[in-house]
Amino acid sequence: MSLHRLRGRHLLWLADYSGEEIRHMVELTLEMKRRYYAGERVIPVLRGRSVGLLFEKPSTRTRISLEVAVAQLGGHTVYMTPSETQLGRGETVADTARVLSRYLDAIVARVKSHKTLEEMARHASIPVINGLSDLTHPLQAIADMATILEKKGRLKGVKLAFVGDGADNVLHSLLLAGSKLGLHITVATPPQIRPDERILSIALKVAEESGGSVEIVSDPYEAVSGADVVYTDVWVSMGQESMAEEKVRLLKPYQVNAKLMEAAGGRAIFMHCLPAKRGQEVTDEVIDGPWSAVWDQAENRLHAHKAVLSLLVP
Ligand code: CP
Ligand code: NVA
Repeated sequence: MSLHRLRGRHLLWLADYSGEEIRHMVELTLEMKRRYYAGERVIPVLRGRSVGLLFEKPSTRTRISLEVAVAQLGGHTVYMTPSETQLGRGETVADTARVLSRYLDAIVARVKSHKTLEEMARHASIPVINGLSDLTHPLQAIADMATILEKKGRLKGVKLAFVGDGADNVLHSLLLAGSKLGLHITVATPPQIRPDERILSIALKVAEESGGSVEIVSDPYEAVSGADVVYTDVWVSMGQESMAEEKVRLLKPYQVNAKLMEAAGGRAIFMHCLPAKRGQEVTDEVIDGPWSAVWDQAENRLHAHKAVLSLLVP
């Protein structure tokens, strides 16, 4: 595959990328990791490049691993928040994108509304990369697919059970990536909560073509039976604080605890994008237990960022 097809492109959601392109990012993630541990701490493909990090919401993993990833690629990052830029005083997203395009080689943005990313991409002449929106979290999904490949030795045919908030941004990215890569994804979520209809319909159609599958059920035990991966995320995402009480009430039966992991069978590993709300969507015994892959998963964010940026940044 020609890398020219990736260079310079936006990454707003994985629906815009083919299974082959996503697989390439995932494999390159593990290659970056191998090279790091073989002693190649710096792979200077971004020498002289500057990547802007424009974050409307807090971040531990995404921000820090991006800053380190760009340093390990020989480049430079500039971290910005709306309140420290003129965005906070009303300068438009479009004008900000135009100006930042004159200084930077790419922007990774974490936004409250996915529409902000689309607006930024319309007016930027450099790649705009989604560092999490209310709709999707594609960089997370690339790292997660790499973690599954690392732990299970394959992606096609892997059975992933997502238990919890069926309208979650991380789930949406897992649906888009997983369906393109031939995973079997079962989502256990209350009947009142559904994935975004557009994402679900893309995932259902793509899964048919890739030999994967996507299913939504309400019983967590049904979802995890025979699973290779049990995945969850927080019940209350950033920006959903006003819905907290209602969501916690609805999602109570969807906690990933030892009983659920034991019901999954011997193959299952536990994954969570983090941060976790221990005692809510997951118990200590699971996140700290033998099933847990979460620390390797978090580490893989770093290597995934190196893979994605080395492919997309011009
Ligand atoms: N998983 C993830 O994106 O974590 P942060 O919010 O800490 O970046
Ligand atoms: N769904 C969570 C993911 C955090 C990485 C949120 O949006 O807050």
